[in-house]
Amino acid sequence: MDELQEKIKTCVKSLYGLEIAPNISAVPAELAGDYACNVAMQLAGKLGKNPREIATEIVAKMSEELDAELTVAGPGFINIALSGQYLQKKLAENWTEHYGENQSGEGKVALVEFPSINIAKPYSVGHLRPGTQGWSAKRLLEANGWKVVSDNHLGDVGTPFGIWAVGFGRFEKNADDVTIYDLGKIYIQMKADLKAEAEANKHELADEVQNWLMRLEAGDEEAVQLSERFKSISLKHMHEVMGRLGIATDLEMGESCFVERGKDAVKKYLAAGKFEENDDGSVICRLDEYGIDVPMLMQKSNGTALYATTDLGCLLYREEEVGADLVVYAVGAEQKFYFEQLFAMAKKLGIKLNCYHLWYGTIDQLSPEGKREKMSSRKGVVLLEDMLDDAEKRVSENFGSELEADDIKKIAVGAIKFSDFVADRKTGILYDPNKIFALTGQSGPFCQYADVRMRRILAKNADFARVDFADYDFEAEKPVLKMLLDYPRLVANVVENFEMHKIAGFCFELAQEMNRYYEAAPISRADDATRSARLWLVERADAVLAHALDLLGIEIPTRM
Ligand code: ARG
Repeated sequence: MDELQEKIKTCVKSLYGLEIAPNISAVPAELAGDYACNVAMQLAGKLGKNPREIATEIVAKMSEELDAELTVAGPGFINIALSGQYLQKKLAENWTEHYGENQSGEGKVALVEFPSINIAKPYSVGHLRPGTQGWSAKRLLEANGWKVVSDNHLGDVGTPFGIWAVGFGRFEKNADDVTIYDLGKIYIQMKADLKAEAEANKHELADEVQNWLMRLEAGDEEAVQLSERFKSISLKHMHEVMGRLGIATDLEMGESCFVERGKDAVKKYLAAGKFEENDDGSVICRLDEYGIDVPMLMQKSNGTALYATTDLGCLLYREEEVGADLVVYAVGAEQKFYFEQLFAMAKKLGIKLNCYHLWYGTIDQLSPEGKREKMSSRKGVVLLEDMLDDAEKRVSENFGSELEADDIKKIAVGAIKFSDFVADRKTGILYDPNKIFALTGQSGPFCQYADVRMRRILAKNADFARVDFADYDFEAEKPVLKMLLDYPRLVANVVENFEMHKIAGFCFELAQEMNRYYEAAPISRADDATRSARLWLVERADAVLAHALDLLGIEIPTRM
């Protein structure tokens, strides 16, 4: 399409001496032609001419240069039908080992932050989406030539530590074999106790929590040790779950890494007049000039750091030490306003890097009554490990237990991830096990199966001696060829707003198109040239589908 656009542009320039960016769109399969262009209508006003007349002139000139059938349709559309051979030649010309990727981000560094879990609790489904979305954003940036540094911005300061430290003292059985699940229980119990205390207008327990927080911030040895221990239990668990999800980050710089830098920055910007101190000693940043009338609280009255303080320190670190041009935060929609404030503050302080809040909706489930609700279990939050166990169980039930364990995992995780990308990330997703793990419909397994099938065909034909196919017409291949030719443009376009659902949509369509293709174009029974041509195409489709699925963090099983 890009090339067509260029050609029409040159043609218009030479005919009329005008610079114009022609609009080209793909034509639905049921209509004649492959692409349509409305450039004649765009020009009609400027030239004071009938659009059909203009279209006819353009068609006459273009036909000399393009191996395509051009026709004028309706009020002045130019329909362009390209031959299968032409499309095949284009694909062959453009094909590289890294087909689909481009270098538009060359020389630029992006810091992508995910899944940023809070280490006080076991990994829950609430932190599934930042992991899948963040990972995919990273892959997408890399495919567009960016250098990406990924960072798991652990929630390791603030009240959770204090809550846990107090609870640990009260509930601990044998300190040596405490697991993340014990810590999770302690946390939940403490939260309930704190709530009851607040309702009774008391604050003894809450004070204790605050006290631990201050001790930690002051570097008190016992607090630091507890925090370290807590962290190592959490990290071990987190790495296990991330491993199962097939995601990992380069850095694990928790909020605690940025307390000092953040507090120093607060002092500096206070002195510079960018921040203001309230009578009670708390510090705020006014954002009215950015259309936000709620100031951002930068430091508590007792001088302790807040979430925003560490995020400020972290932003400065990422600009100064990492040299990032862009920071992508994979964090849910609940924090939209917070990030609007943070980004406005960054502008106010003259921080130059670009910030992007990669937000997404909740994971919902169907209640037994069939109503959509936020995902939960009888026990409360759903643990990600439980979700993965359940997914693996369903996959081995659906696909036969003779599958290799590794393949079961790939299908289970692929199914969950794909469901995350089916719709625009800004909407909530519905976790419907009946659909997600099905081999039909818009599912991960459907797309994975399409690729497994292509690889099986290629393997079956591995010994077949390929011959020259220059005379083959590639007519039956046109729909697939057009999709493959469009893929690089898709990768380049979706990175702007991280529209991963468009990649998922592409995977699904390509998988469907391949199924149609086998019906229309048998491979093994064809003559040698045809068979060679078709295998050539299957190889390319396999590479593109696997690449697209990889952008979503989805792997191809060996068998299914
Ligand atoms: N840990 C936070 C949460 O689970 C997300 C952290 C987001 N990143 C940040 N730099 N504030 O809600």
